[in-house]
Amino acid sequence: MVPIHIEGLVFRPGGRTVLDGLSASITPAGVTAVIGPNGAGKSVTLRMIDGVLRPDAGSIRFGDRSPQDVRRAFVFQKPGLIRGTVAQNVALALAPLRLSRSTVSTRVEAALNRVGLGNRARDAARKLSGGEQQRLALARALIVEPELLLLDEPTANLDPGATEAIEEIIAATAQAGTKVLLVSHHLGQVARLATDVLVLSQCRAVEHGPAQSVLTAPRTSEARAYLKGELPWTSFAVAC
Ligand SMILES: Nc1ncnc2c1ncn2[C@@H]1O[C@H](COP(=O)(O)OP(=O)(O)OP(=O)(O)O)[C@@H](O)[C@H]1O
Ligand SMILES: [Mg+2]
Repeated sequence: MVPIHIEGLVFRPGGRTVLDGLSASITPAGVTAVIGPNGAGKSVTLRMIDGVLRPDAGSIRFGDRSPQDVRRAFVFQKPGLIRGTVAQNVALALAPLRLSRSTVSTRVEAALNRVGLGNRARDAARKLSGGEQQRLALARALIVEPELLLLDEPTANLDPGATEAIEEIIAATAQAGTKVLLVSHHLGQVARLATDVLVLSQCRAVEHGPAQSVLTAPRTSEARAYLKGELPWTSFAVAC
């Protein structure tokens, strides 16, 4: 991967300010966790990095690479599954590549094995449990061998066992060289997985540093308020 340079992102849908000059430099390796209160703009920022949402101002650069050339995959909190089998859902991600049928089936099998769903290939995808569906979503993301993996609360609503299974896959993926950006409210998960933590609050990135120091000794009052879960208003992303 290459570093991601985010400079001065502004997002004002309908005149309401959501982001107002968000800047950050993200290193090419490891897991960067993006944390912050509800409505802080974490999902918006991830979608801007993915290129599906355009900022009103500011830029996102991937070193000297063109954004379209950076192979990336996105996993949402709720996996959007099509009717059909587990294997068909995973194969869908390869459709634009126009590969031979046998290559697709080899890669689907490998991707499903990687997430522990090798024996479920022919099952109806929508009949899988929530945790299994999330592993399917990861298989669908990993099959394109992304350089950049964008994860938006991939374990929300999952039980501890399913969460651990997903975390193992994320850790192994990062270890193998994929850059991971992880939005999560699970601070334990952030501590387990993240190399560095970016805190969004009040329309900006208010803090960015090594996971251990941000989580245990945040420097800014906004990061401290979020991490301490102060209620009611300081933990919400109020106007900037
Ligand atoms: N496509 C869009 N058009 C207009 N407004 C949007 C769009 N996407 C998000 N927003 C608004 O941007 C704000 C930030 O949303 P976002 O989903 O990024 O928050 P978040 O930090 O991910 O919060 P949460 O922790 O609840 O997931 C919200 O007020 C939301 O309504
Ligand atoms: Mg979100």
